[in-house]
Amino acid sequence: MATAELAGKHLVLGMSGGIACYKIAELTRLLTKAGATVQVVMTEAATQFITPITMQALSGRPVYTSQWDARVPNNMAHIDLSREADAIVIAPASTDFLARLAHGMADDLLSTLCVARDCPLLVVPAMNRQMWQNPATQRNVAQLRADGIEVLGPDSGPQACGEVGDGRMLEAAATYEAIASFFQPKILAGRRVLLTAGPTFEPLDPVRGITNRSSGKMGFALARAAQQAGADVHLIAGPVALETPWGVIREDVQTAQQMHDAVMRAVPDYDIFIGVAAVADWRVDHISEHKIKKTAERVMPTFTFVENPDILASVAKLPHPPFCVGFAAESGDLDVHGEEKRVRKNVPLLIGNLGPLTFGLDDNEVVLFEASGATKLPRADKQTLAGALIAEIAKRLPDTSLIR
Ligand code: CTP
Repeated sequence: MATAELAGKHLVLGMSGGIACYKIAELTRLLTKAGATVQVVMTEAATQFITPITMQALSGRPVYTSQWDARVPNNMAHIDLSREADAIVIAPASTDFLARLAHGMADDLLSTLCVARDCPLLVVPAMNRQMWQNPATQRNVAQLRADGIEVLGPDSGPQACGEVGDGRMLEAAATYEAIASFFQPKILAGRRVLLTAGPTFEPLDPVRGITNRSSGKMGFALARAAQQAGADVHLIAGPVALETPWGVIREDVQTAQQMHDAVMRAVPDYDIFIGVAAVADWRVDHISEHKIKKTAERVMPTFTFVENPDILASVAKLPHPPFCVGFAAESGDLDVHGEEKRVRKNVPLLIGNLGPLTFGLDDNEVVLFEASGATKLPRADKQTLAGALIAEIAKRLPDTSLIR
């Protein structure tokens, strides 16, 4: 999550009754931490699962539960509360609440708010698998989609009732991601983005290997930003300890050769390729089958290296290459090496890190190298920077890359 990425957003968070209400405490914390203002509205049933006091403490605002709340001077809570909202999010959305929404009912504060809204409505269903599969529920959900309402989830897995199947509410973090994604402009709608991220690991023997200090943070942030911009995203990652961004397809690899093979298999289906991985330039020509042991004579092992394939250059060399973007990891003279590397790899855009190497850090400052010259972007945290880079990439896409 970027710092304050939802700053200025005002959300009405509507809770209907269900055991998944416990997840909304965490969701509220995530939304407010990202800078959103969260106005909680609860149905009578929701207050049976979690108290309005808890939700008030987490949101920092009084919670509304009744249409007849005397705190609203004109008794128009159903109008007033939604007028300043950028979106209404119903989480959890129970079977009953979805049915009432689908039929335009307005028999309590939350349902009336939904009917009277002039902002987008997102629902996050949470129910038992049989209730979800019930034809009436499926009809109602289809109606809600047809009415332009966003349906987030549900997830599949073990349920509070002990059964297993579709219907459980998305986890709080996934719900947060879906909401954050909803607010981003869809500048890459219809585009397909393939990325590499993280380091590679080149084995020496069954227990040892050579790797580098790439954390994968920049590549994962770019994958998240591309997904939020509406693209289908496939991320090929070396060994990193990072969560897969919401909505992104991830493939894990270890070596540069495996990363190369995975990229070459996938790339015909993609119209943008972003090589963020810090790919090992060399591997040993012979990986020892057994652990290399110390000898009595203390003879040091020696290794012979062979060159790994250059993934970015191989993609750029294809007869119909996608729009290729490279990254440059340099420890000095970026001005010279950045443009030289872009030309050598034959890519239209290469992004260079300004200043010392930023492996593992949370913020970064970069320069864009392209045929027309170099442009510096302001220093920012990696997620904010990723959003800015995706916007820069979107601006430079040739129209023909839509049809490959
Ligand atoms: N790259 C790649 N395959 C490789 C090496 C690098 O795809 N075998 C990609 C990286 O993902 C990055 C760009 O090429 O987008 C530049 O990587 P970098 O390590 O900075 O450059 P090198 O090609 O290794 O060049 P040098 O060793 O001269 O710095």
